[in-house]
Amino acid sequence: MHTPVTVVILAAGLGTRMKSRQAKVLHRAGGKPLIEHVVATALSLAPPERIFVVVGHQADQVRRAVATAGIGFIEQTEQKGTGHALMVGRAALSPLAGYLVILYGDGPLLRAATLQRLIAAQAAGSAAGTLLSALMDDPTGYGRVVRDARGHVAEIVEQKAASVEQLALREANMGIYCYRADLFWKHLDEIRPLNAAHEFYLTDLVAILHRAGHYVEALPMDDAREALGINNRLELAEVDRLLRERKLRELMLAGVTIEKPETVTIDADVRIGIDTVVEPFAQILGATTIGENCHIGACAIVRDSTLAGDVEIGPFTMVTASRLESGVHAGPFARLRMDNHVEQGAHIGNFVELKKTRLGAGAKANHLAYLGDAEIGARTNIGAGTITCNYDGFHKHPTKIGADAFVGSNATLVAPLAIGDGAYLGAGSVITEAVPPDALAIGRARQVVKEDWARKRRSLRK
Ligand code: UD1
Ligand code: MG
Repeated sequence: MHTPVTVVILAAGLGTRMKSRQAKVLHRAGGKPLIEHVVATALSLAPPERIFVVVGHQADQVRRAVATAGIGFIEQTEQKGTGHALMVGRAALSPLAGYLVILYGDGPLLRAATLQRLIAAQAAGSAAGTLLSALMDDPTGYGRVVRDARGHVAEIVEQKAASVEQLALREANMGIYCYRADLFWKHLDEIRPLNAAHEFYLTDLVAILHRAGHYVEALPMDDAREALGINNRLELAEVDRLLRERKLRELMLAGVTIEKPETVTIDADVRIGIDTVVEPFAQILGATTIGENCHIGACAIVRDSTLAGDVEIGPFTMVTASRLESGVHAGPFARLRMDNHVEQGAHIGNFVELKKTRLGAGAKANHLAYLGDAEIGARTNIGAGTITCNYDGFHKHPTKIGADAFVGSNATLVAPLAIGDGAYLGAGSVITEAVPPDALAIGRARQVVKEDWARKRRSLRK
């Protein structure tokens, strides 16, 4: 029979050693706030209505960071210890039968698979609870796991309260538990703040259960780094590095080529299809999806964007909040600022900026242009230096250019403006009025040639 799981994530602490005005769990690693990683892991174990975050410091900001997940929150206005964090959640949590899994908001490396092993270990026996432990060469700072003659956990002793013999124990408490909810809530209030910090230590519950005739098991982890919590910015950088290494490894094993991976930054939620190549120093960030067989050039930055297959992003190109269809080429040195839709096979070359623009299939803007609030039809060619003048000092205005049009170099298109299908615009024109389909519009001073003028001028100077 499947036992339902409730997950509680402790995230009320400020994290004094971060030396920050921001709550610790809001600091970012692997491209998102720490708390978001832990909530994502929790969601693979339990439905949102069975996930609760204990918030305290900057409660509102922490809530906002993960509110869309549809999870619950418990307010711990005063932080009186890990045991107290659960005590304040009694009303919301104790009616939920099954297993109670306890996690920390500052431990984003913990894998769902490890927690599934923890729950399976708990389900396999009749322990009151199971905790994750690790055999460490140097367990300084961690609570020590003290086992009884039968190998069960008799108690957890915090570093500060441990005797010399206990300090020599190498098995450390990772602070991650799976308890039987009924026994947990029956005994939780027996914890007393009898320690130098006057805190309610959740760890004391182990000895309480042991004395009551129950037992707690410890499941040693293969890799203690997974339970690494963040206390300062050095550890934040280390966890960020580990999260990113993990992401790159996953992608490479799934068929993505990443050149010089130690220089590449890819956020946790990015998805990339097989045979895509990512060059050194590229950054692929936020909610980005990239299809198969794409090429992301060196030092390119792609953020919150969707790229279909066979897309080529040249070096030093920035793509933000845009959608690129298959076969699109952009860059090198292009900037797709936001809300662009570049259709199949369109080309965007160096020093071209796009903002809120739809570039039709097969259209080309190959050099030095600004296209803002524009709609450009299929196969239209935008000459070098073309500018849409979309702003009159007060408002933004749209430019519409049809299909198969030809915009000569250095055209200045004063919006609002509509250019028909197949129209030609002379190079260097300032276009202020609509141009019908298949017409030629020239808006510049007519060229004057004065025969012999230069020679005469030179002779005058002698
Ligand atoms: C805890 C364990 C220790 C274990 C270690 C592993 C206790 C008493 N000790 O120590 O055995 O080795 O984790 O990392 O549990 N929090 C709240 N409200 C509070 C207090 C804490 O939400 O009132 C949150 C903190 O924000 C933090 C987490 O709980 O994310 C852990 O609390 P902390 O006080 O840092 O415990 P540790 O000293 O790490
Ligand atoms: Mg801690």
